[in-house]
Amino acid sequence: MPLVTSTEMFKKAYKGGYAVGAFNVNNMETIQGIVEAGQECKSPLILQVSAGARKYANPVYLKHLIEAAVETTDIPIVMHLDHGADFEACKSAIDDGFTSVMIDASHHAFAENIEITKKVVAYAHDRGVVVEAELGQLAGIEDAVNVKAEDACFTHPVEVCEFTEKTGCDSLAIAIGTSHGAYKFKPGQKPQLRFDILEEVGKRLPGFPIVLHGASSVPQDKVAIINQFGGKMPDAIGIPEEMLRKAATMAVCKINIDSDLRVACTAAIRKHFAEHPDHFDPRQYLGDARAAVKELVKHKIVDVLGSDNKA
Ligand code: G3H
Ligand code: 13P
Ligand code: ZN
Repeated sequence: MPLVTSTEMFKKAYKGGYAVGAFNVNNMETIQGIVEAGQECKSPLILQVSAGARKYANPVYLKHLIEAAVETTDIPIVMHLDHGADFEACKSAIDDGFTSVMIDASHHAFAENIEITKKVVAYAHDRGVVVEAELGQLAGIEDAVNVKAEDACFTHPVEVCEFTEKTGCDSLAIAIGTSHGAYKFKPGQKPQLRFDILEEVGKRLPGFPIVLHGASSVPQDKVAIINQFGGKMPDAIGIPEEMLRKAATMAVCKINIDSDLRVACTAAIRKHFAEHPDHFDPRQYLGDARAAVKELVKHKIVDVLGSDNKA
């Protein structure tokens, strides 16, 4: 099956009360682990590429790795640009064959966010590509933006109708308390999401697909393995999975997961070296990392997203 856009995927997800996982990819092993999991669970997938990933792997390599994933499976797969910083970044991804882009102009004033997003939508729609935009600001570190917790702000539901009508965007990322990275809450702080905002957004935009960034759960068993085998990740805390499951039954159709993949890979590789200090063939430890990614993604698909058997 060729690459698809997320249009049909999101329609089905909205109606079915589940979400599609958007997994960040940087290398071959991660792509293979994600796609093998998607194939075995018969789940649609979004493979997303950040500016940092494009810089690390070279856009040409990533594009061909994703195309190889598509060629070897029969599940619907979207190739999505994560956190496009400006029109040029989105244009470059669209010209390269991405089927979906995110324009992240959420740190600009409302009117400017609309203008920038509108320009990307016009270019993308003319070429059959869909656009995710963002309203509100998450805390945490992304490639281009480092938002301090005190500068983060929740999405104002009163703004969502004007924003989506004026921009024509296809999906909307909102800020309800998730954040990027592996340290989402302070120790002792109770993880919380503003479901009241999500509910209000859902009422104002019936049927419109909502996106959650910063939605890793930072599995504590994996953090413990990292710490046991020489790592140092004190107080890494994510979003409880049951909260994501609940969001997926509401208007959330796309859930972004990157940090959990990183944690799973790192735990597998640290454990591998601790148990096999004599190993030096990258296929041995990267093979373990790939298997860990696959196991994690299967768990997400079945227990968190609910997207199994929906391909
Ligand atoms: O939200 C950002 C993603 O986690 C991508 O991270 O920019 O380090 O590739 P990155
Ligand atoms: P996490 O850091 O929670 O995995 O978020 C990833 C993300 O939002 C990518 O855009
Ligand atoms: Zn993000």
